[in-house]
Amino acid sequence: MIALGSDHAGFYLKEKIKKYFEDKGIEYKDYGCYTPESFDYAIAAKRVCDGVISGECERAILCCGTGIGISMAANKVKGIRAAACTNYFGAKYTRAHNDANVLCLGERVIGEGIALELVDVFLNTEFEGGRHQRRIDQIAAIENGEEVE
Ligand code: RB5
Repeated sequence: MIALGSDHAGFYLKEKIKKYFEDKGIEYKDYGCYTPESFDYAIAAKRVCDGVISGECERAILCCGTGIGISMAANKVKGIRAAACTNYFGAKYTRAHNDANVLCLGERVIGEGIALELVDVFLNTEFEGGRHQRRIDQIAAIENGEEVE
């Protein structure tokens, strides 16, 4: 199950991703917003990230105007590694090297075609583990207020 969420500025892109998931038979849960009326991105980020951390959803896609504000909010949730991506290489390697569990997209930055390619590669790239696991562990240590040597 893939979690989806947006603020008002990412609403239409989220709706396009929903349609893409429906066409592909990918299960998703939409955490809102549900209309293009003003809706704060931190609220969407918190709801979606709670869905990931609880285990209800495996990964998430978040949309706002830039993809940046909603990624900042998402990364405040313990256990979330959210990446704001605008290109294929970033969306691929944030999975392969960072084990990102949330992809953040900017409706005002990229078009639908690129956005759907980023979603696709994000969902279909596995974490490589190995030396990258140590770095993920260091991120978690920072999150826990521990020293990183
Ligand atoms: C909303 O106007 C906009 O600021 C928001 O969607 C996002 O781009 C913030 O990072």
